[in-house]
Amino acid sequence: MKVAVIGTGHVGLITSATMAYLGHDVIGNDLDEEKIVMLQRGQAPFFEPGLTELLEETLGSGKLRFSFDSQEAIRDADVVFICVGTPPKASGEANLIAVESAAKDVARYAGGRVVVVEKSTVPAGTSARVRRTLERERPDFIDKFSVVSNPEFLREGSGIRDSLEPDRILVGAESPEAFEVMREIYAPLVDKGAKLVETNIETAELSKHACNAFLAMKISYMNALARLCERSGGDVDSVAEVMGSDERIGSAFLNAGLGYGGYCFPKDLQAFERLASRLGYDFGLLKEVERINDEAVDATADKIIDVLWNLDGKRVTLLGLSFKPDTDDVRFAPALALGRKLQAEGATVVGYDPQAMANAKSEMPELEVASDPYTAAAGSHCLVLCTEWAEFKTLDLDRLKQAMAYPLVVDGRNMFEPEEMEKRGFSYYPTGRSPIV
Ligand code: UDX
Repeated sequence: MKVAVIGTGHVGLITSATMAYLGHDVIGNDLDEEKIVMLQRGQAPFFEPGLTELLEETLGSGKLRFSFDSQEAIRDADVVFICVGTPPKASGEANLIAVESAAKDVARYAGGRVVVVEKSTVPAGTSARVRRTLERERPDFIDKFSVVSNPEFLREGSGIRDSLEPDRILVGAESPEAFEVMREIYAPLVDKGAKLVETNIETAELSKHACNAFLAMKISYMNALARLCERSGGDVDSVAEVMGSDERIGSAFLNAGLGYGGYCFPKDLQAFERLASRLGYDFGLLKEVERINDEAVDATADKIIDVLWNLDGKRVTLLGLSFKPDTDDVRFAPALALGRKLQAEGATVVGYDPQAMANAKSEMPELEVASDPYTAAAGSHCLVLCTEWAEFKTLDLDRLKQAMAYPLVVDGRNMFEPEEMEKRGFSYYPTGRSPIV
């Protein structure tokens, strides 16, 4: 099929590349000319494992092209995926101006029958607005447009695998023809066993928010338990193991730590809560999830202040700056929230990250960065493990300790083994587990 993808962020670019890999003829479109030029050369604008290789393959085979000309992208498309950003407004509501503008472009340039697919995360009810926009802009074409909600569940860092081996493909549509087109689009994955769930549009829109909010709730539940464990002598990792072995609960997303970040959970949770409120329902549970998540950073900062006393003149090292491993994304990263708090208390904060240093520096210019973990730890009074990159597992702990002013480690992701840290002579403060003082 002929596919246009509007927006080349994480969702749009991975959608473009995987759709081309599945055999469709894809044009990825973005307003940002510079980005399009980079993409045409096969350069990914962000770090995502496997993406450069996939771009090379699909650009090479001619299945994937990029254009900043919306008309060129849209005019021959059978399906247009809207993958534009839906950033939070000051109120927490999703800003849908880019979705409206993409819908207007589709209306303006559609050359024939076209299925318009919302892939960006949007509040329930957006499809009706997209449809109204299409109809208003192109009244003569009303029966040529079908609107579909097909939310993307890919995670940064494993986005390509998540797209090609999805837990489920969710399609909400308004007509049998639109379902048929979406079945054809996803046939290569369904033939290999992927589960296709078909619902009405509002259910699909709501389900995406429901999943992200539920996962965030699991994390906040564990972080609340971590606070309880710290006060009672319990061990949150063991509690997670006990809970996770109950099939009804499941073992994923039970890791306590600095909390969730990134461009999805924080904004989706707020947008979902705002949507509920607009619909006249007080979804207070979501506000608590958010409060507990903020508390996870505060609790870690308090721990550091408690151990170091005054932070003025002290140096704190942050290992890991991205919001999670295998990405260079620092948006709403707990590491940076913690860094800002420590700086406000007078500490000098220095960071190291395998991929996210440049992004961290532009988000937080006052952050010092170092080219490796040992340089970052030099003269440091406290080292905080913020993001569990695999390479931190094999750090030379003796070398790290030698470099530091105080042998103090705060583990915001419970990555280190307490026995090992004790053996090496560190004071070690994990999350929701007994410290080694
Ligand atoms: C998420 C959803 O998982 C994905 O389905 C959706 O499409 C986009 O949002 P992503 O933001 O890439 O994906 O990251 P994810 O792997 O879900 O992690 C989110 C945050 O939760 C990270 O900051 C991570 O460190 C944190 N987390 C995750 C925990 O603190 N504890 C856990 O047990 C799991």
